[in-house]
Amino acid sequence: MANRRYLFGIVTLLLLSPLIKLAYDWIHLTETNDCGNMIQISVIISSFCVQLCLSSIHRGGILFPRESETRQVVSLDGIWNFAVPDTNNPLMGFQHHWYKTDLREVPKLEVIQMPVPASYNDVTTNWKIRDHVGLVWYDRTFYVPRHWSDVERIWVRFGSVSYAAQVWVNGHLVMSHEIGHLPFLSEVTQYLKFGKENRMTVACDNTLLADTVPQGRVSELENGRLHQDYTFDFFNYAGIDRPVYMYTTPKTYIDDITVFTIDVRESQALLQYNVSVLGDAGNTTCRISLLDKNKTVVAGSEESFGTLTVEHPRLWWPYLMHPEPGYLYSFQAELLDDNGDLVDKYTLPIGIRTITWTNTSLYINKQPVYLHGFGRHEDSDIRGKGFDAPLVLRDYDLIQWVGANAYRTSHYPYAEEIMDLADQRGIMIIDECPSVNTEFFSDTLLVKHKVSLSELIKRDKNRPAVIIWSASNEPRTQYSAAKNYFKKVIDHIKSLDVSRPTTIVEAQNVNVVESSYYVDIISFNRYNGWYQNEGNLDIVASLVMKEAKAWHEKFNKPVIMQEYGGDTLEGLHFAPSYIWSEEYQVSLLSSHFQAFDQLREEGFFIGEFIWNFADFKTAQTYTRVGGNKKGIFTRSRQPKASAHHLRRRYWGLAQQYANISLPEDLFSYTVAVKSQERDEL
Ligand SMILES: *[C@@H]1O[C@H](CO)[C@@H](O)[C@H](O)[C@H]1NC(C)=O
Ligand SMILES: *[C@@H]1O[C@H](CO)[C@@H](O)[C@H](O)[C@H]1NC(C)=O
Ligand SMILES: *[C@@H]1O[C@H](CO)[C@@H](O)[C@H](O)[C@H]1NC(C)=O
Ligand SMILES: *[C@@H]1O[C@H](CO)[C@@H](O)[C@H](O)[C@H]1NC(C)=O
Ligand SMILES: *[C@@H]1O[C@H](CO)[C@@H](O)[C@H](O)[C@H]1NC(C)=O
Repeated sequence: MANRRYLFGIVTLLLLSPLIKLAYDWIHLTETNDCGNMIQISVIISSFCVQLCLSSIHRGGILFPRESETRQVVSLDGIWNFAVPDTNNPLMGFQHHWYKTDLREVPKLEVIQMPVPASYNDVTTNWKIRDHVGLVWYDRTFYVPRHWSDVERIWVRFGSVSYAAQVWVNGHLVMSHEIGHLPFLSEVTQYLKFGKENRMTVACDNTLLADTVPQGRVSELENGRLHQDYTFDFFNYAGIDRPVYMYTTPKTYIDDITVFTIDVRESQALLQYNVSVLGDAGNTTCRISLLDKNKTVVAGSEESFGTLTVEHPRLWWPYLMHPEPGYLYSFQAELLDDNGDLVDKYTLPIGIRTITWTNTSLYINKQPVYLHGFGRHEDSDIRGKGFDAPLVLRDYDLIQWVGANAYRTSHYPYAEEIMDLADQRGIMIIDECPSVNTEFFSDTLLVKHKVSLSELIKRDKNRPAVIIWSASNEPRTQYSAAKNYFKKVIDHIKSLDVSRPTTIVEAQNVNVVESSYYVDIISFNRYNGWYQNEGNLDIVASLVMKEAKAWHEKFNKPVIMQEYGGDTLEGLHFAPSYIWSEEYQVSLLSSHFQAFDQLREEGFFIGEFIWNFADFKTAQTYTRVGGNKKGIFTRSRQPKASAHHLRRRYWGLAQQYANISLPEDLFSYTVAVKSQERDEL
């Protein structure tokens, strides 16, 4: 217990980087005691918990960097330098001030090349990098043009670093951020050398503990190596996994924009907006213009806050519900000075659409929607969770090919570039924060869980594709502490956005769950025919129906089945169908389809999401052959038999509710269809 008290002292010391060496020495002094190792680990992670205390990180908006007449964006992606500290001395980078020189100049340090963006784990053939627990270091050099020194602010923005990061520019600590899959940024103007070479250093820590989002546990193996445990079923990829940008804004600049549709009625849409300006805002005025796809101004205003009325709006519709899904307008905000000259300009794509819900249904633009799609992962060979444009475009092609209209960002926020495509193509998103399998409900965790939602909502609040906020996946809501915890989490979401419904994706038994009283939509995961009743597909439909009805009866809310499915090894065939074969996955899907169709008749069942879109990597375990194989596509994005099967259902559903014409290749030719009438002999 004494150790615990000291730990807080250490955290405070680490806030003051000159004292890090002292902290480091202290750790070594205590290393020999019983809990020595735990302390060491906690200190590593605690060195990043400064996020909540440091003021250097930007606390305002987190608008995506976009070029305009007043802004320039430079990518810092590419090949960076990369180094892993000696496992016997994980804090050596801090001790020896690695951020003060190029990593390549650190004596005896092995520095390799690492692509950004990418998870670092699977890039090399070195298992020690793949399975590394703790800190790794990145750096690179870059130039700042001489003419940027005059008037502008210069920012650096990371799309995400998993799990925690500290960033130095020319040896100055400029930002610290904890929680992966979310962007963070900071102004760095004062630390830059204009017209000269500059250096950026990033320390990245993948350690998951009881108070990180998501949670994990670290233990020490017999040989002293650290081992990371986690209960969630996907690989804990880490690194600078999304694009890094340096960009400019004027001194007085548009910091954030919020736009949402209040109502659409009688061929008029009413939008509410707020443009917040930082810097010397007093002398500027704001000019708002809403442009359609033809660049025609359809509404405008001279106020930074207010409403816009759009006559005969083109609404944002989901894919397959409308001939022109995903219609986007450009919300153009211009900041003008006393003379009417342009100071700053930011253009945000927005969609005009409403979301409403009742105890049984979800409506987009007052039309009921039925969601049919997937749970997914950001995951692929070699790059792990690293953003990769060809992969993302292939995924959207497959999503549209299979006729899905929605997916959930299981189990963390996806890259903004991925979300942009959902807005553009009309794919509805259940937007999930990084809370997965949460089981120890502490106050520290609650604070971080709320921070992850604040950052997510700040990032995605303007996206028409986002239709539901998911507060958590499979939390252990059978524990009584979960009830109050999730009440606070849902209250927090509602304090930030009342325009969208909320959900918690449950895996516990309906009878023990209490937290779902607070959400708007019930979500449940259940693996009938897989984790239970494997092989007994003939009882699956009735089990699914019983459970879905029980959720609705208990909570009187619309119900979505968020996960169901079974692992399938591509190319494995058995007749009759047998577990792990392609035939078994097809039969398992079919038995669920029967239940879903009957449930839709009941009037409260609003969506089906197969687990998973594609095969993905997990931690090493004897239950997983090369990862989780529940994809209807392989990890290299080729269809299994189930993909063709699911495609016929999803298009069939859309044909029922939207009378769309089916793709020509949905059914391969088999035999000429003869007239149904025949002469009875
Ligand atoms: C507009 O947004 C800013 C920044 O979030 C906030 O401080 C301000 O209160 C908002 N204005 C209105 C009228 O909501
Ligand atoms: C803003 O207006 C005040 C008073 O008119 C003036 O003194 C100040 O220089 C102006 N600031 C800028 C940045 O134009
Ligand atoms: C844009 O222009 C095209 C061609 O002139 C026209 O058919 C279409 O209706 C216009 N769209 C809008 C939103 O005005
Ligand atoms: C929805 O459910 C709540 C709680 O069960 C109930 O109070 C309310 O009347 C219901 N609303 C409708 C429209 O049925
Ligand atoms: C469905 O579409 C077809 C042509 O695509 C049309 O002939 C038919 O009348 C439509 N049915 C309904 C119910 O709208």
